[in-house]
Amino acid sequence: MIKHADVVIGLSYGDEGKGKVVNSLLKNESYTHCMRFNGGHNAGHTIHKEDKIFSTHVIPTGYLQNVQPIIGPGCVVSPRLLEEEYEHIATRGFTGNKKIFIDKRVNIISAQHLSEDSNEVSIGTTRRGNGPAYRDKYARKNLRFGSFNTWNNGFFEVVDVYEELHGEKECKVLMEGAQAVGLDIDWGDYPYVTSSHCGVAGAIQNGIPFNKIRNVYGVAKAYDTYVGSKKFETDDPVFEKIREQGMEYGTTTGRPRQVGFLDLDLLQRSAIMNGVTHIVLNKVDILEKVNTWKVVKDKEVLDLKNKTEFTRTISEMLMKNVETLKNIYFSESPKDI
Ligand code: IMP
Ligand code: MG
Repeated sequence: MIKHADVVIGLSYGDEGKGKVVNSLLKNESYTHCMRFNGGHNAGHTIHKEDKIFSTHVIPTGYLQNVQPIIGPGCVVSPRLLEEEYEHIATRGFTGNKKIFIDKRVNIISAQHLSEDSNEVSIGTTRRGNGPAYRDKYARKNLRFGSFNTWNNGFFEVVDVYEELHGEKECKVLMEGAQAVGLDIDWGDYPYVTSSHCGVAGAIQNGIPFNKIRNVYGVAKAYDTYVGSKKFETDDPVFEKIREQGMEYGTTTGRPRQVGFLDLDLLQRSAIMNGVTHIVLNKVDILEKVNTWKVVKDKEVLDLKNKTEFTRTISEMLMKNVETLKNIYFSESPKDI
């Protein structure tokens, strides 16, 4: 049975540093399972482990910490890309001691889905077949991992998440989100969104009782970034500097990310709707390097004087308005954690 579940979600448009937060929670708390709950290979988590950097896409970060990894029923997975990712991690010198569990309900991203998405331009997808796979899932004509009796591989195992989490043993689960509330199919800026549910609702849909949720970690950055076809970046030379200093290029596609000032209205809305208990605001050091402390509040750009005023303004606003919030952590770019 589940003792408790903690959830990590993105509050902006992805690439906030969720991988770093998940990795440090896995190290500091005693979880039995780490479950990816939405999306597919569109995600790109950068994990700094000892002296190596790993880019993961669909393999839960728990795999790198030997905490039972599960790919939950809310996800879509290409068997071919999964194998490539496993090999990427193995060639960098890490092989986990736990098999990757894949729920039997996980929908398959087929070669057809990949090729259909491969020349998509209007949304600016990551071209990893997500949209077509979810479309066919909801049209009820897709294949799932459980559609096949045997899988000829040594590193994953098809399971039933219900049996794994709701049996005799006590489970403490870390739910690892991908993308972010600003890209959520319902709550994002439609149609410039992904095809899954990126918030806490997406997590509990994977067989997690809502009242077993303990902490909800909402992750954001000191500035916003977005990748995709809509025009997001405005004319301010500081954005180019932030992109360079912050190395804001896609983990999955290498595309330059568009940069904007931190949208506190979106941040607050995302935090309220998801009952966020802890906010981690990453990469404050990058704003320090470019010496700009601007944020967007009530749809206007607010020019804050310095780091102290920046942290104070954000803390005061969010602690006052987000009832569930217990703590805000202002953090730096990932080093070895
Ligand atoms: P899709 O999820 O590949 O269909 O892409 C839909 C939109 O979500 C595009 O704007 C992508 O750039 C964006 N997106 C999807 N996954 C990520 C991510 O992990 N980080 C940032 N943006 C993402
Ligand atoms: Mg990413």
